[in-house]
Amino acid sequence: MRLTRLETENYKGIKAIDITPKPGVTEISGPNGSGKSSSIESIEVWLDGLRVAPAEPIRKGAERCRIRGRLGDLYVTRIIERKKGGGHTTRLLFENEEGKPFPGTQKKLDDLIGEHHLDPLDFLALDSKGKFDAFQVFVPGFDFARAAQDNAVDYERRTKVNSLAREARAAAGLIHVPEGTPAEPIDEQALVAELQRAGDENTETERRRQRREQLAEIVEGLRARAAGAPAEIERATREIEAARDREVARIENQIRALERQRDDMRAEYGAKVAVESERIQKAALDAVRDADEGQAKLDAAGPLPEIIDTAALSKSIEQARKTNQAIAAAQTRAKHTSTAERYEAESGELTERMEARQAAKRAAVAAAKLPIEGLDFGENEILLNGIPFDQASTAQKLRAGVAYSIARNPTLRLVWIKDASLLDDDSYAEIQKLAAEHDCDIYLETVRAIGKDAIVLSDGALASEAQEKSEAAA
Ligand SMILES: Nc1ncnc2c1ncn2[C@@H]1O[C@H](COP(=O)(O)OP(=O)(O)OP(=O)(O)O)[C@@H](O)[C@H]1O
Ligand SMILES: [Mg+2]
Repeated sequence: MRLTRLETENYKGIKAIDITPKPGVTEISGPNGSGKSSSIESIEVWLDGLRVAPAEPIRKGAERCRIRGRLGDLYVTRIIERKKGGGHTTRLLFENEEGKPFPGTQKKLDDLIGEHHLDPLDFLALDSKGKFDAFQVFVPGFDFARAAQDNAVDYERRTKVNSLAREARAAAGLIHVPEGTPAEPIDEQALVAELQRAGDENTETERRRQRREQLAEIVEGLRARAAGAPAEIERATREIEAARDREVARIENQIRALERQRDDMRAEYGAKVAVESERIQKAALDAVRDADEGQAKLDAAGPLPEIIDTAALSKSIEQARKTNQAIAAAQTRAKHTSTAERYEAESGELTERMEARQAAKRAAVAAAKLPIEGLDFGENEILLNGIPFDQASTAQKLRAGVAYSIARNPTLRLVWIKDASLLDDDSYAEIQKLAAEHDCDIYLETVRAIGKDAIVLSDGALASEAQEKSEAAA
């Protein structure tokens, strides 16, 4: 769809203009206030009606405004009139090439022109995120928002997982496991039980040894007693004879008188000696017997067991405890290490997923047909020649904006630049190239004409006509 003719009457500052734009660039030029913006805006109002119209679209003093344009082989006329009591009404009129009118509605016009983004400034006015979002229409195969959201979720999870992995690694690093620590723990309880048993056995052995010593002492005493018997007999005899002699001496004075008594006394003491000797002899025999019995017991007793080395056992237990502590430490460290490895693996998977998304995005962007060379997707912003789009020069932005708008107008091949005065000759040539490449009409508003075929306005009318009128008047 191309606009091949435009007649605007009484729209804002325009009195009446009738132009037949050539395909490509149409430059509308003229001094400030001459009606350039008014004429371009009238195209928008012609297409979209009151919803894009300013508060007072009808020229001051006029009854109504009329905008008529040719779209393909169809003429479309929009009339805007004032309503009594304020506001405006609008209606559309359709004619075929022969000028035959038929009813038309906004809906019909909308269907005819389709989606349209005629003013690149609308795009340029977006913030960098807005531009980024708007550009995503050119990459239909990739869901940027979804990918960004998924990446944000994965990124957050990876941050957490990395910190957990670091914690587990640090915990494992703090645990010292001595070299050569075996894998299986030693049975400390069994060793303690063995120590207990050895202690009990040793106590019993010691008790038996003491009993044997006591018995040996008794045997020795008995033997000494038996051995001392002859000496005792001798001593007793000596004592008794001494007593006898003393008695004899004492009695010698009475010897005659007591002669009979003396004989009796002799007999009596002789008997005493015999009895006493016999008693001592018997006691000696008893002692010998008891001693023999004791000795027999000692001889019959087997050798006492060797004393068990409990110090070595205690050392073994101490060693086992140390070993088991080391094993437990090794197990804890292995647990921490495996936790760290698990988290590290998850982190790696997250990174892979994020990179895969990045790659999918790059592939989708690479496959996409972007409207102008040098454009690319950055992180949440559009890049132009690798630099954030908003940092491009005004003319660069304008050119890119125009390319964007052209691409967003699949049916109506029309865009405009209301502020084209800043374009230099190269940029102007670039715009012409864009128009040719994209088979699109581009309207430019300039204060001083850049191109040769500019349509020049003066006071709401074509400057040429205004001149003719003034000449005619003269
Ligand atoms: N409803 C209206 N009735 C009469 N004049 C109007 C109306 N609306 C706007 N104007 C005037 O129309 C004139 C033209 O305005 P317009 O914006 O089209 O000029 P321009 O050529 O684009 O100027 P510039 O170079 O400054 O952009 C202005 O003087 C403005 O005040
Ligand atoms: Mg203007």
